[in-house]
Amino acid sequence: MKVAVIGTGYVGLVTGVVLAQLGNDVICVDKDLDKVEKLKNGIPPIYEPGVEEMLRQGLKDGFLTISDSIKEATEASEVIFIAVGTPPAEDGTPDLTAVRAVANEIAKHIMRYTVVVNKSTVPVGSGDMVEKIILSHGVDSSLFDVVSNPEFLREGSAIHDTLHPDRIVIGAKRRDAAVKLVELYATLQSPMIVTDLNSAELIKYGANSFLAMKISFINAISRICELCDANVADVAAGMGSDKRVGNQFLSAGLGWGGSCFPKDVQGMVKVSEDLGYDFGLLKEVIQINEDQTLAFIARLEERLDGFNGKRIALMGLAFKPNTDDIRDAKSLVIIDKVLAGGGEVIAYDPIAEANVREIYPSIDYATGVYELGVNADALVLVTEWNEFRQLDLERLADKMRQRVLFDGRRVYDKAKAERAGFEYHTIGSH
Ligand SMILES: NC(=O)c1ccc[n+]([C@@H]2O[C@H](COP(=O)([O-])OP(=O)(O)OC[C@H]3O[C@@H](n4cnc5c(N)ncnc54)[C@H](O)[C@@H]3O)[C@@H](O)[C@H]2O)c1
Repeated sequence: MKVAVIGTGYVGLVTGVVLAQLGNDVICVDKDLDKVEKLKNGIPPIYEPGVEEMLRQGLKDGFLTISDSIKEATEASEVIFIAVGTPPAEDGTPDLTAVRAVANEIAKHIMRYTVVVNKSTVPVGSGDMVEKIILSHGVDSSLFDVVSNPEFLREGSAIHDTLHPDRIVIGAKRRDAAVKLVELYATLQSPMIVTDLNSAELIKYGANSFLAMKISFINAISRICELCDANVADVAAGMGSDKRVGNQFLSAGLGWGGSCFPKDVQGMVKVSEDLGYDFGLLKEVIQINEDQTLAFIARLEERLDGFNGKRIALMGLAFKPNTDDIRDAKSLVIIDKVLAGGGEVIAYDPIAEANVREIYPSIDYATGVYELGVNADALVLVTEWNEFRQLDLERLADKMRQRVLFDGRRVYDKAKAERAGFEYHTIGSH
């Protein structure tokens, strides 16, 4: 099939390279000329395992083309995915400026029947909005359909998730349009849920809000565990082995961040409000998440008797392992608080350092994880990269001023850390 993908971020680029690998003729478009230039040379502008190889293969085989022209893409394609960013506006409403801009541009160049697909995460009613934009350019309604096909991939395992999705959601007003996407995805042999536009849009917000709620729920339990000397890992294992609860997304930690959960939960609250429903539960989910991080930082600050003059070493900066994405990462909150309290920060991340450097050029960055310990007053595990799991803790502790370890992701065994000379603190157990 001839396919265009507009926006070459985490979602658009992964969608593009996977569809090209499946033998479709794919044009990936971005308005950022630097990105376009890099992509043409086989260099992905984001870090995502496996993408570089697939990008190069797609370019080499000729199934993948990179362009900065929506005109070229529209003229060449039967299906056009809109995969641009929908960041939160000041009031939490998703900002649809980029979606509208792309819809306007597509509309100018539709010449034959085209299926326009919203892959970006957009509030209920956005499919109708895109349809109205295209109609406003005088395009006949028989020449196009708008379909909602929300994306559920996870950064860090995006290629795998795109090739093996738990389900594919397709929302459309007309059956023929839905069938076009069913055909495009048929080869993946994944369950498909075909529904109307509004329901498809709501599935995405509902799923992300529910997952964030699960994390906030176990984080609230972790606070209770700290108060009553219970162990949140055991509580989570006991709860999660009930199939109705399920054991995923029940790991207590510093809270959820990243480019999706914060904006989508906030978006769901706003969308509900606009429709006349006060989603109080989700407001509490957000509050618990913020409190979880701040309570952890407060414990660290109290233990060190204030941050003033203290050197805090951060292990990991990305919002989660296997990505360079730092949007709403907990590391940023910790850096802010330490610096505001008069402390110093040294940080190490295998991939995300360059992105954090753009925000904090003057904190220290270690070239390797063992350098973190030198003269540090506390070591804080922020992102649970695999390479941090089996470290030689004695070597890490060796040159520290104070051997204090705050494990924000419950990775280390307390007894082992203590044997290495650490005073060990974590979330949800003593
Ligand atoms: N990142 C994720 O894990 C993830 C998962 C599921 C859904 N989503 C959703 O998918 C959408 C995209 O997310 P992302 O993380 O890939 O965003 P991103 O910011 O990484 O990428 C968006 C890309 O769109 C490009 N762009 C913006 N306006 C454009 C225009 N007018 N024409 C052409 N290109 C344009 C930008 O230059 C950028 O490269 C968002 O709605 C997001 O909520 C993201």
